[in-house]
Amino acid sequence: MNAPISQEWIMTFVGAGNMAEALVHGIIRAKLLSSPCLRVTDTNRRRLDHFQATFGVTGFERNADGIRGAQVVVLAVKPQVMAGVLKEIGAQLAPGTLVVSIAAGVSTHRMQQQLPAGMRVVRVMPNMPALTGAGVSVYCLGKRASEDDARLVESLFQSVGVVVRLDEKHLDAVTALSGSGPAYVFFLAEFMMQAGYEMGLDHATAKTLTLGTIRGAARLLEEMGQEPEELRQRVTSKGGTTAAAMDVLETGRVKEIFIKAIRAAQKRSRELSEEMVNVPRNAG
Ligand SMILES: NC(=O)c1ccc[n+]([C@@H]2O[C@H](COP(=O)([O-])OP(=O)(O)OC[C@H]3O[C@@H](n4cnc5c(N)ncnc54)[C@H](OP(=O)(O)O)[C@@H]3O)[C@@H](O)[C@H]2O)c1
Repeated sequence: MNAPISQEWIMTFVGAGNMAEALVHGIIRAKLLSSPCLRVTDTNRRRLDHFQATFGVTGFERNADGIRGAQVVVLAVKPQVMAGVLKEIGAQLAPGTLVVSIAAGVSTHRMQQQLPAGMRVVRVMPNMPALTGAGVSVYCLGKRASEDDARLVESLFQSVGVVVRLDEKHLDAVTALSGSGPAYVFFLAEFMMQAGYEMGLDHATAKTLTLGTIRGAARLLEEMGQEPEELRQRVTSKGGTTAAAMDVLETGRVKEIFIKAIRAAQKRSRELSEEMVNVPRNAG
């Protein structure tokens, strides 16, 4: 799929944090745009200096200065400051600008309400492995966004991993599953490593074995084309060591607890959207 991105364009990231860094890195690596076409804005001067030193990308302390003349503006600030940022940049955006938000819980409807009439918006939920180019990003189009906008967003986020398009009604589930998902795997890694120490392994060995096992299991899942349950059954011989571990996990209802945890993240994502909706229109 060809990216409808011109090398003459300006793309500005509002908020020069972790996710903006992953994306800027991916965009430059994939040669979608060169550094003179990219800009970042942030209230933190040190972040701007970091982008200048690492990527040769110009930084602006005032959002209004950074977005001037931009064809694409990516909102990469925390949801809590989004209302203020939308209010601040709304009047400065040129009519044809595409606004892409990666903020959790901020709906396309809400953005459209706060931005000038007719603005095209796209909402994306990436995840942290985007930092290594192995992210998962899900996007949905706002009412006025076009198929060209969809192709552009796919190209941008493919530069940091896999991209899926879904209806916006699924975004809370996506936030709970892939947005928060890396934390579940880190939690599992913590437990596995701790069990390793308790059984007498040193830190480095426990880490090597845990990371190698998670990486290998993920690769098997991808390459074998089998469902996780099938693979689990293949490595669980009756009366064997894995079966002994599975018995404990089943008795402890770990599956139910895990699903409950992910549903709690989905509920929290809904609540965050509602908190955002309750911010008065154009409130700072
Ligand atoms: N990190 C993830 O795993 C992840 C996954 C999915 C989605 N997201 C979404 O991505 C967005 C960014 O997350 P992140 O992890 O990159 O956050 P982050 O590292 O905190 O980056 C946000 C940056 O924006 C700056 N900022 C604060 N107020 C600003 C303003 N008014 N104008 C311009 N910049 C401002 C912050 O400065 P200060 O630090 O000085 O406040 C910070 O440098 C969030 O909305 C989050 O929901 C993140």
